[in-house]
Amino acid sequence: MSRFQIDFKNKWILVTGASSGIGFATAKLLSECNARVVAISRQEEKLKTAITHFKNPEQHRHYAVDLAIDYETLPALLKKVALECGPLSGIFHCAGIESIRPIQILSNKSLDEMLNITLKSALFLAKGFCQKGVSVADEQTSMVFMSSVAAVTGQKGMSVYSAARAGLEGVVRSLATELAPRIRVNAVMAGAIETPMHTRLTANLPEESINDYRAKHLLGFGTPEDVANASVFLLSDLAKWITGTSMVVDGGYIC
Ligand SMILES: NC(=O)c1ccc[n+]([C@@H]2O[C@H](COP(=O)([O-])OP(=O)(O)OC[C@H]3O[C@@H](n4cnc5c(N)ncnc54)[C@H](OP(=O)(O)O)[C@@H]3O)[C@@H](O)[C@H]2O)c1
Repeated sequence: MSRFQIDFKNKWILVTGASSGIGFATAKLLSECNARVVAISRQEEKLKTAITHFKNPEQHRHYAVDLAIDYETLPALLKKVALECGPLSGIFHCAGIESIRPIQILSNKSLDEMLNITLKSALFLAKGFCQKGVSVADEQTSMVFMSSVAAVTGQKGMSVYSAARAGLEGVVRSLATELAPRIRVNAVMAGAIETPMHTRLTANLPEESINDYRAKHLLGFGTPEDVANASVFLLSDLAKWITGTSMVVDGGYIC
């Protein structure tokens, strides 16, 4: 077997946001690499449907959780997952929501929702993953957080979204320091990826604005699979010497 082959045989990987877009593509690719997926998002029916598209659908599990509300219960959920499935080898935290709002209409509720899903969930997932019996013992494991170019570049109306993603970037570095060498912690910093979220964000934009936005990505808009490739790599042993960093997958947007 080529050493560039990725095989997660008998390994459980938890993916939040697994029902749609980037999370779905990553969970599906993980299943194609023989991983067993613990799929998480709010809507049970969407999760069930997503899993039917994975390789060996009967091998995966799903748990419906609203991360905007129940983020604090994640350590308990991870204990339950470990009991019902087995210890986890990795986590990809991808669930998220969009937000384009001028600062004049900032509300505490919308700020909380963004921070709960993106940032607090990342921290409570990490707390849960460190519990005895939740991650596989005597093996290096990996956490990957879904970040965005919005963490390091400005766009009008994106301050709340940017705050959450920039926060994640900080979490990655401190957690990597705290959890090495047993748990690697990294992020994928993505540019615009054509997903249902992207469709919602661009639905009311004039064609010209969409073309300008696309042109800022030297390689055009990305696909969910472009991010899945990077996420699965960071979750795998091929990335065993990579921690505390962000892989930029943005079609050249930042440069
Ligand atoms: N698309 C892009 O251009 C892009 C670029 C950079 C970063 N990102 C980030 O990548 C991630 C995935 O984005 P996407 O484009 O794939 O979006 P998407 O297609 O809208 O998928 C979002 C996922 O998050 C889940 N989710 C949303 N709110 C949730 C909540 N409160 N609790 C639990 N799960 C929740 C959704 O499932 P349910 O509806 O079933 O809950 C869905 O599975 C997001 O964090 C996004 O901010 C996206």
